[in-house]
Amino acid sequence: MARRRQLFEGRAKVIFEGPEPGTLVAHFKDDACSESNGITERKTGTIIGKGVINNRISEYLMTKLSEVGVPTHFVRSLNMREQLVRAVEIIPLKVVVRNVVAGSFAERFGLAEGEALPRSIVELYYKSDQLKDPLVLEEHVTAFGWASPFEIEEMMSLSLRINDFLSGLFMGIGIRLIDFKIEFGRLYESDQMRIVLADEISPDNCRLWDAKTDEKLDLDRFRRDMDKIAEGYQEVARRLGILPENGEPDNPGPRLVK
Ligand code: TMP
Repeated sequence: MARRRQLFEGRAKVIFEGPEPGTLVAHFKDDACSESNGITERKTGTIIGKGVINNRISEYLMTKLSEVGVPTHFVRSLNMREQLVRAVEIIPLKVVVRNVVAGSFAERFGLAEGEALPRSIVELYYKSDQLKDPLVLEEHVTAFGWASPFEIEEMMSLSLRINDFLSGLFMGIGIRLIDFKIEFGRLYESDQMRIVLADEISPDNCRLWDAKTDEKLDLDRFRRDMDKIAEGYQEVARRLGILPENGEPDNPGPRLVK
């Protein structure tokens, strides 16, 4: 069997060279890591089964988003932990969309978590472990050449569309989308370049609260040393209808082909 070439190992995923040119394989790990954003310290650990669930949730959400016209890097799921994606040039920005005060925003402005914002706010952070992902202005982004004004506009409008769609989708299953982080990449096709949604969308990079009880169903359970961390992820998948009631990941097992 041929060995795959590993291109990159991140906190929650390993990226391998894909089977065809212009593709990559994203392998979702169970490793958990809270980001250090200058306010909270980094913490690492393992959440058993997280990779399987995040692979499935991200596949589901990216597919739904592409059905409503949001371009994404997702191609297809390969197995329980892996998906095939288009190789894109990642724009070195974390785009955070916030609907409700939480996390670093609550600390930065001295506001209580849970307060609805007057309108959704989009923030840009520069991806740099060394600098702890600082919050940046569009001025910094264009001056340092991380993205052009056109690309910023495209990312902003896509982010708001993604927020509208996901907020509605989650509200339909009794979950409030408090905030989330996404990343974008440049997809080159012949002489064309398109900005597409990349990375993943999962409880690792969204804040998801039960709409009735405000119970957290995301990585904050890990960040804040709470119990039932894996159960939070399972609950999101279960409500999305992609995890059977018995809590096991969606795996139909062997089946006779007629
Ligand atoms: P924050 O309140 O810590 O700034 O996070 C805002 C949202 O973005 C929250 O849903 C977590 C997510 N996020 C990531 O997924 N990765 C990151 O590196 C950061 C800073 C935030």
